[in-house]
Amino acid sequence: MAYSAAPDSGAWTLLIATTVVTVCCSELQNMEPEFLNPMQNVTVALGREATLVCSVKNIGEHKVGWLKAEDQTILSLHERVVTENRRIDIDVDNNTYWKLKIRQLQRSDKGCYMCQINTQEMKNQIGCVDVKVPPDIKDDETISDITVMEGANATLVCKAKGNPVPKITWKREEEKRIILKKKLKEISYEKVHGEPLFLVNVRRSQMGHYLCIASNDVPPAVSKRITLNIQFAPEITVPNQVVNASRDTTGRLECTVESFPFAQTYWEDSKGNSITTSENTYKLEEIKTSHYKVTMYLEILKLEYSDFQKNYTCLAKNSLGTANGFLRLHEIIKPTTTTTTTSTTTTTTTTPKPTTVSTTTRMITRPPVIPSSPTNRKNSKVHEGDRKYGGKSVDTTGRRMNGVEKFDEIETQSSSHRASRGSSRARRSTVSQSVGIAAELVLLAAVTAGWSTGCAVDAVVGLVSLALAACPPLFLLAWRDGDVPQ
Ligand SMILES: *[C@@H]1O[C@H](CO)[C@@H](O)[C@H](O)[C@H]1NC(C)=O
Ligand SMILES: *[C@@H]1O[C@H](CO)[C@@H](O)[C@H](O)[C@H]1NC(C)=O
Ligand SMILES: *[C@@H]1O[C@H](CO)[C@@H](O)[C@H](O)[C@H]1NC(C)=O
Ligand SMILES: *[C@@H]1O[C@H](CO)[C@@H](O)[C@H](O)[C@H]1NC(C)=O
Ligand SMILES: *[C@@H]1O[C@H](CO)[C@@H](O)[C@H](O)[C@H]1NC(C)=O
Repeated sequence: MAYSAAPDSGAWTLLIATTVVTVCCSELQNMEPEFLNPMQNVTVALGREATLVCSVKNIGEHKVGWLKAEDQTILSLHERVVTENRRIDIDVDNNTYWKLKIRQLQRSDKGCYMCQINTQEMKNQIGCVDVKVPPDIKDDETISDITVMEGANATLVCKAKGNPVPKITWKREEEKRIILKKKLKEISYEKVHGEPLFLVNVRRSQMGHYLCIASNDVPPAVSKRITLNIQFAPEITVPNQVVNASRDTTGRLECTVESFPFAQTYWEDSKGNSITTSENTYKLEEIKTSHYKVTMYLEILKLEYSDFQKNYTCLAKNSLGTANGFLRLHEIIKPTTTTTTTSTTTTTTTTPKPTTVSTTTRMITRPPVIPSSPTNRKNSKVHEGDRKYGGKSVDTTGRRMNGVEKFDEIETQSSSHRASRGSSRARRSTVSQSVGIAAELVLLAAVTAGWSTGCAVDAVVGLVSLALAACPPLFLLAWRDGDVPQ
């Protein structure tokens, strides 16, 4: 600036100078650049593009520069990018809006940026970029396994980073609930917010996988599985200490073991000998039902007398202790069937010996069927009973069944007896009406036909008489029907 630097010049010169300065300064005053608006801060997700806008009025011959505020690194001079960072661009709109663009935003881009105008007295404005970062769990500060003794307290730690700071939520796998103690009361929750998760006086049911879920408003949320192991000495429960079985069948003994760490399990007999699977005698099986539960089975094949004299022990052992359960087999004696003999005797008593012998061939189709029917029914029932005993039904039921059956049988027989007696009584009454006539007719027939014919008929009758004997009155009927001469 030459004008102001001429103090020793003449008055004329001074006049000219002051005029020029005044003109010049008033012009400069008019042309001085100004910021139109304060710069807006921006918050952009990682990987996206951030844009800061610096709006300048009357830029004139002045220049706009962008700097990183914290270390004053120059990023751009006017429309030229100076930094080596290729993700930075400058964009000018209408010679007014100076835009700093940062593409594929990184965490390190977070910070404030300065827009500067090279006026004599530097003018500048500051705008900040915040980088939103999705949550991420810090693996080095989050332990994936924690083991405590039953009854102790457990602290589940889960650290996460992200911007904004992620929130932590706890859940359990398999829809199990989280148990927290609040003022001596136990409350179960589907999810718990906050970190760390503090579990007081833990029990085995709280063992398992816990999920630490970290989330903020930038997706995706992330989770990490933390396994809580709760150690305790084995415990055995025996659902049936005495197991009913009958000889030649398979006896199945069962013990349920709870333990952690998982126990070594085995069976022993009364003498303390360990029982192992052998093709013809024993079959061992184990079914794991949860993180800390196993059901152990011992099958004793083709049971014999000595198997019922033993005690069986199931044992479980882990680093914290040993447990055992005692079991025994109780023999169920298979019931024997004795009913068939009685049925035959009943049948015989109902059959009276035939005394009269005189009939025709028509009689054969008639009564002999009646007395044999209850015997048939009985036989089929006995078989049914046998089948039940063969199966695994309890003996008491079997015996009861048998009793009912016998009773039932007697009932049926006596009632059928009664029925047959009733029917014979009915027949007898019809017979009695015609007995007088019949007697006369027999006499008449005997006279007319002579004794020789009567004897021939007798021979035929003799063959079937045994069967017919069951219902003697029908003799009379048949006799009347068939023997009555016209
Ligand atoms: C931008 O952010 C900075 C730092 O966070 C703050 O000091 C400033 O006031 C913010 N500016 C505006 C316009 O919100
Ligand atoms: C460009 O700037 C001039 C003055 O600086 C203004 O009159 C005009 O409206 C602006 N045009 C746009 C598109 O912003
Ligand atoms: C577990 O935590 C509770 C509550 O903070 C405390 O009273 C108790 O003594 C702790 N138990 C053990 C075994 O540290
Ligand atoms: C085993 O049989 C006995 C009688 O013989 C009976 O009292 C007991 O209830 C039976 N047990 C089972 C589990 O069926
Ligand atoms: C089986 O156990 C019972 C009761 O524990 C005991 O009285 C009995 O003597 C044992 N029998 C054998 C053969 O060990």
